[in-house]
Amino acid sequence: MRTSFVAGNWKMNKTIAETQELLSAMVGKLEEISGVEKVVCPPFIALSKAAEMLKGTSVGLGAQNMHWEEKGAFTGESAPGMVKELCGYVILGHSERRAYFGETDETVNKKLIAAEKAGLTPIVCVGETLAQYEAGETSQVVTSQTRLGLQGVSSEFASRIVVAYEPVWAIGTGKASSAENAQAVHGEMIRPVLTELFGAEIAQTIRILYGGSVTSANAAEFFSQVDIDGALVGGASLKVDDFTAIVKAAAK
Ligand code: 13P
Repeated sequence: MRTSFVAGNWKMNKTIAETQELLSAMVGKLEEISGVEKVVCPPFIALSKAAEMLKGTSVGLGAQNMHWEEKGAFTGESAPGMVKELCGYVILGHSERRAYFGETDETVNKKLIAAEKAGLTPIVCVGETLAQYEAGETSQVVTSQTRLGLQGVSSEFASRIVVAYEPVWAIGTGKASSAENAQAVHGEMIRPVLTELFGAEIAQTIRILYGGSVTSANAAEFFSQVDIDGALVGGASLKVDDFTAIVKAAAK
């Protein structure tokens, strides 16, 4: 049995003051929901305040990225140990980082190995662009991103990895994938690669989230699929009632 998992990726939204305001309104409501792992991922600048506010609660904290090196001359970057001081989780390889900031399967893999060393739980994102989807390349893209991004870690760590399937065409567009399509990608493309990498037993323990225009209206349908273990939520994670409803749906 895999415990459901819902993470809110706030992307580049919310100042420190706004983070404080949103978490004040949200944490109490999230605390009432059990049976699901809950995580929020505010911008780096607000992580310290968020860590303070989430201390002692059942709501986890994640960063949206990190560097793989332990320290040094990497202006503007944050090291795994720095992230670990505040967070238990880190999002790696989000499509926006792949598209705008040169993230590749190779850098995702370096960061994953660094996450293992630092003791962070990674949420590794994979997903095809609209052009790749229309060209019928989903399977090729998603299996290759999963295989290259997730190689070279211990099997003990592997079972802690969370994978997020986020088709780029569904992110922020209001056009979510159908639950059946997402199930097919999770069950027939991603999980078989996890089996190939880590063996069937561990592959069955790895949570695979769906992300891309998840709302309180469509969440339950995604979560009814056998290989959809939760969601990585963007826009709706900035709204208290919507995010709470999505987390509730995952807990059922
Ligand atoms: P939306 O939920 O806004 O489509 O964003 C999804 C996403 O990219 C989460 O990482």
